[in-house]
Amino acid sequence: MESSDRTPQHPVPERPVSERSEHDAALPGAGAERTPAGPTSGGPAAAAGQAPGAEQGTGAGETPAAAAPSNPAFHRQPYSFVRRGDRLSPKRQKAWDEHAGEWVLEIPRVMTDTSVDPSYRLDHEAAFGRVAPLVVEIGSGLGEAIVAHAAAHPELDHLAVEVYKPGIADLLMKAAQAGVTNVRVAQANAPEVLEHMLEPGSVHELWVFFPDPWHKTRHHKRRLVSPAFAELAARVLEPGGIWHLATDWQEYAVVMREVLDAAAADFENLHPGPLADDEHPDTGWAPRWEGRILTSFERKATEAGRVPRDLAYRRR
Ligand SMILES: C[S@@+](CC[C@H](N)C(=O)[O-])C[C@H]1O[C@@H](n2cnc3c(N)ncnc32)[C@H](O)[C@@H]1O
Repeated sequence: MESSDRTPQHPVPERPVSERSEHDAALPGAGAERTPAGPTSGGPAAAAGQAPGAEQGTGAGETPAAAAPSNPAFHRQPYSFVRRGDRLSPKRQKAWDEHAGEWVLEIPRVMTDTSVDPSYRLDHEAAFGRVAPLVVEIGSGLGEAIVAHAAAHPELDHLAVEVYKPGIADLLMKAAQAGVTNVRVAQANAPEVLEHMLEPGSVHELWVFFPDPWHKTRHHKRRLVSPAFAELAARVLEPGGIWHLATDWQEYAVVMREVLDAAAADFENLHPGPLADDEHPDTGWAPRWEGRILTSFERKATEAGRVPRDLAYRRR
């Protein structure tokens, strides 16, 4: 069941809600965990790029809502996610305890524990211990795709942006098992990461795979891929940088294409042409990107009869 229309149009602290989107349920471990969100922890790697004087890890529930109206940076767009619990299974807790300090960035917050202080900038070299082309995945879920890619491409650095702590803990577990050292995680609201934390033109490749479809009309405003988000993506992608997208929700795929084709001044569609029809089922979409591994999420979508669509755009 999808969430009720509880869009935070005005400043309220984030908190768990009792209803989740259908896509939340597709992530193993989602659902039962509904504890209050706590502060994000981090460690030495996290000190990278910290804004001077910024407060650390403000827990959403700890921040008085009354402070919000005077805070110009507070998120005024509807969230593209429903906050779920942060409680971890023992295995995930162990992975978190062992690796979060090194790999999860410590991000200064302004209001909620997924916000990004507008003055915070990622210091890439401090965070990764080197400077290499940066791949950013928005909504990395359980981290399957980004860890696999990081293992296959040690020459690239990878930043996973995700709000779901159990998913991040899973990513840490996978990264440790794969022995990769070129992945960092931002537990933060993606639009704020693109707007504040990442320098203009600093991203080599951007991924948005299977974002929550918010399929009810009254929830469409929560969709991640929107004209405003395309502007943020254009801001961070380097000239020639590629934006890969995929969705299993046909109508959202069409919307994504309309949104990005309308941003033609910034993005070139690498697979233009008329949209697929019954006779030509694959035109107008990118072929399945070989860099994207089959995640448990995509497998379930396919088993349920949905057809994943890929899109690929180049930053002009
Ligand atoms: C449907 S899941 C897909 C996960 C993964 N990309 C995959 O293909 O398996 C969407 C993910 O995006 C995350 N998400 C949604 N909105 C977000 C936002 N504004 N910032 C960061 N993560 C977000 C959700 O927490 C969820 O884990």
